Amino acid sequence: MAKVQKVAKIWLDGKFVPWDEANVHILTHTLHYGLGVFEGIRAYKTASGKTAVFRLKDHINRLFDSAKISLITIPYKQEEIIEASKELFRVNKLPEGYLRPIVFIGDGEMGLYAIDNPIRVALVAWPWGTYLGEEGVKNGIRAKVSSYTRLTVNTLMTKSKTCGNYINSILAKREALKGGYEEAIMLDHEGYISEASGENIFVAKQGVVATPSIGSSILKGITRDCVIRILEANKIPVREDRITRDSAYVADEIFLSGTAAEITPIRELDDRTIGAGKPGPITQMIQKTYFDIVRGKDKKHEDWLDYV
Ligand SMILES: Cc1ncc(COP(=O)(O)O)c(C=O)c1O
Repeated sequence: MAKVQKVAKIWLDGKFVPWDEANVHILTHTLHYGLGVFEGIRAYKTASGKTAVFRLKDHINRLFDSAKISLITIPYKQEEIIEASKELFRVNKLPEGYLRPIVFIGDGEMGLYAIDNPIRVALVAWPWGTYLGEEGVKNGIRAKVSSYTRLTVNTLMTKSKTCGNYINSILAKREALKGGYEEAIMLDHEGYISEASGENIFVAKQGVVATPSIGSSILKGITRDCVIRILEANKIPVREDRITRDSAYVADEIFLSGTAAEITPIRELDDRTIGAGKPGPITQMIQKTYFDIVRGKDKKHEDWLDYV
């Protein structure tokens, strides 16, 4: 996986600072206990040549929701973070890339309560290719059901993109990759399919698409929402449902959705070939429509593009 590529400036606590000067103290509270919240956002160079951040407002809205869930008050307005995010692409002359906003608890008190420690915010952007590889997006990946259970809804808050939640994802991801697979599929505490380490999941069988419900332990993915809307617009039945591991084995198609992974087909799950072992027609349609939308070729969803 590609290393982060350095650019000129990072936005830290309201100011653009040189990349190498965006440093924090070792006693930064979030570094010790993992309570911080973040987002993952992509900007694409559109057909017109202009850069557009995809669903920026929805991502920043989710960042504020994550903070609220975590009892963190962000010391900026949503509009200020949105403007600074766009400015970051302009300042760094980045035609496209990944944007990582992070809200973290600074140093001060070291105990767990630490309610008066400063709340700090950074926005970082850099060029970033496909997360699960060009080959994976084109031909599908091999995934493995993880031995790690997905967080439950009342242990860590699954609707928040909390830094510490990702320990669960990292353990699953490392296990999958060390086992020779490309992604981990996580089951919830009752044994139903939840999501991948950083993506939501869709399973298609006989023309009907199922995905785990918002009421389960998943993150409410913004790409997931795009997929549901594309399916509905194309009159493909889609339902939120519980999905068992064995029903996924015999699905016609499985694909993942996420800002980083975009739309990535799964061609093999637990060594069972899924469908024909290559991206099926629904997956291909979703991929094409999604990429047309993010690149501004599909005018129906211009409202999802925030030109910088
Ligand atoms: C655990 C998890 N599930 C799902 C997703 C997909 O969410 P989105 O489509 O908003 O990127 C992500 C990525 O943010 C994630 O980390």
